[in-house]
Amino acid sequence: YGDPNQKIDYVFKVVLIGDSAVGKSQILARFARNEFSLDSKATIGVEFQTRTLVIEHKSVKAQIWDTAGQERYRAVTSAYYRGAVGAMLVYDITKRQTFDHIPRWLEELRGHADKNIVIILIGNKSDLENQRAVPTEDAKEFAEKEGLFFLETSALEATNVETAFLTILTEIF
Ligand code: GTP
Ligand code: MG
Repeated sequence: YGDPNQKIDYVFKVVLIGDSAVGKSQILARFARNEFSLDSKATIGVEFQTRTLVIEHKSVKAQIWDTAGQERYRAVTSAYYRGAVGAMLVYDITKRQTFDHIPRWLEELRGHADKNIVIILIGNKSDLENQRAVPTEDAKEFAEKEGLFFLETSALEATNVETAFLTILTEIF
């Protein structure tokens, strides 16, 4: 997961947003450290982690910011979005409400972030197929309408997490 002495060609800031408990922090833990925890605590304030990857022969340091989905724990939004070139808009495929709130998150994002920000819609917890409450088609349709990338992921099973970040980072690049 990256040589600390490596020379860095680019630093890209990516922000994670979405309702509480959709799995934002675990998606980040999977991507940055290849870790996962079932008893993850709600995030308070803002945290970030980095991982350096090589994309098209350049070393890219991805600086991923994670904040609380819960309103009372959220930090000042404009600072959070400042300088972000990518965003992951996350919902939980087993909780319809977290998908129904996506337009609000998108509105906040579009209100605060750079207009060229690359956005991917993420339906997380794809390992819980038997509890699915959001059809893949609904999300795909919404993403197409809004011009977003879209993937379903499982932080638990490490499905599509790498692909999701690479989709954003490659597009920014
Ligand atoms: P806030 O920090 O409150 O905004 O929540 P969050 O979006 O960061 O959620 P978090 O990553 O803490 O995960 C919430 C719960 O969902 C934890 O119990 C995780 O273990 C679980 N979880 C996260 N990702 C997955 C997944 O892909 N599959 C399953 N089955 N559980 C997951
Ligand atoms: Mg969190």
